[in-house]
Amino acid sequence: MARHILVVGGTGMLSELVKALAGDGGRLSLLSRRASQDDGADGFDCDYYDEAAFAGALEAAVARSGPVDLAVAWFHTLKIAAPRLLAERVQGRLFQVLGSAAADPSHPGRLETAARVADGLPQCAVRQVVLGFKMEAGGSRWLTNSEISQGVLEAVRADQALTVVGQTEPWSARP
Ligand SMILES: NC(=O)c1ccc[n+]([C@@H]2O[C@H](COP(=O)([O-])OP(=O)(O)OC[C@H]3O[C@@H](n4cnc5c(N)ncnc54)[C@H](OP(=O)(O)O)[C@@H]3O)[C@@H](O)[C@H]2O)c1
Repeated sequence: MARHILVVGGTGMLSELVKALAGDGGRLSLLSRRASQDDGADGFDCDYYDEAAFAGALEAAVARSGPVDLAVAWFHTLKIAAPRLLAERVQGRLFQVLGSAAADPSHPGRLETAARVADGLPQCAVRQVVLGFKMEAGGSRWLTNSEISQGVLEAVRADQALTVVGQTEPWSARP
């Protein structure tokens, strides 16, 4: 059991995941712009595009609940300082939740690029969860929030290096 779980972006599509993790025991920290509105966890309001604010929120979470042994993070982009700042704080596993573009066959190497967030940080073990789509009679559709939360939760429980929620192949079938 993780002693300190930290979720970035847990007030949206990952909110069901947060509820499930809250039942695991240990301390649960949420970081997002409106994280303090969730009363089931310690919320630290911050905008991850604001490097100083994000670093301050991380600092406060660690000061309150200790080193982060499990992090689940959804960032709109990894090309900001926040993902690396988070990786530097993780002493355990970091689950990166990634959009389907991470599996775009015309841009191979995106997963490897994403995993580099923890380069030189042996204490941070990166796991990746790619959000795909679902095929149904008549076509394909994007995942629901509930499917996303459930899929990420299963990925955390199974602890695989890479999990695809739904499917990303054939790429041409995406909605
Ligand atoms: N493959 C699929 O089936 C599928 C399905 C759904 C979504 N997606 C992907 O997920 C994306 C959904 O994104 P969304 O933003 O609409 O999801 P969302 O569920 O609204 O989640 C956004 C989360 O990130 C936090 N957040 C957003 N901007 C932030 C910021 N600047 N600083 C700190 N926290 C921030 C939000 O919290 P606060 O508002 O409290 O800051 C919220 O917790 C889509 O664009 C798509 O790429 C994929």
